[in-house]
Amino acid sequence: MVKLAINVDHVATLRQARGIDEPDPVLAAGICELAGAAGIVVHLREDRRHIQDRDVILLRQTVKTKLNLEMGAAEEIINIALNLKPDMVTLVPEKRAELTTEGGLDVIGQEHHLSSVIAQMTDAGIPVSLFINPDTEQIKAAKRVGATFVEIHTGRYSDATSEVEENREFAMIVAAVDTAHDLGLRINAGHGLNYLNTARIAALGKIEELSIGHAVMARAIYVGLDQAVREMRALCC
Ligand code: PXP
Repeated sequence: MVKLAINVDHVATLRQARGIDEPDPVLAAGICELAGAAGIVVHLREDRRHIQDRDVILLRQTVKTKLNLEMGAAEEIINIALNLKPDMVTLVPEKRAELTTEGGLDVIGQEHHLSSVIAQMTDAGIPVSLFINPDTEQIKAAKRVGATFVEIHTGRYSDATSEVEENREFAMIVAAVDTAHDLGLRINAGHGLNYLNTARIAALGKIEELSIGHAVMARAIYVGLDQAVREMRALCC
């Protein structure tokens, strides 16, 4: 069974929209765990548009499963991660103007910088995952820079508008998973996964964990967070 990690950024987005202290992503994380989530994911962005420093500090103290801190490889956030010591970090490209993480990391283009960030995290005992497109060369580069995990970007698969396109993107994910597996990398996946397209990815076998946020939070508005997590978890087998 693939593990389900829930991204609670959107709970913080709603809170920040009103500028008060509700809803609280820390409380939401606890509900996700009670509903069977195997991990909690938050992205501490440099612009602090949703998750705040207070959230990651409290989550570090309260998450009982596994806290995965998504982050850009910027000095300020690196220092926070080194102090916080989450159970793992996932390095993502971060652009101020984007609505969500748009593409995978260009590992090839910044091997030197990423090697040094990964070395710092490794020294602090924090495993590193690199969020990358299903691209064989980027996966090989992830191995070279010392990543423990890759998170395969499922966004293009999720956004496909025809069966042909979806099958093509799925084939790329399969190839990427096989390459990563052959290289001895551990494999997560995520972005854009929903109640219709997750089972096919979960059935792939070599993926350890799926990171899902938007679809679960959207459904939670209608059915409640507990049920939304349980329904997604049922698809992860
Ligand atoms: N994985 C990564 C690296 C992400 O940046 C995001 C979005 O925050 C997700 C997974 C989850 O994507 P979604 O919210 O579309 O499920």
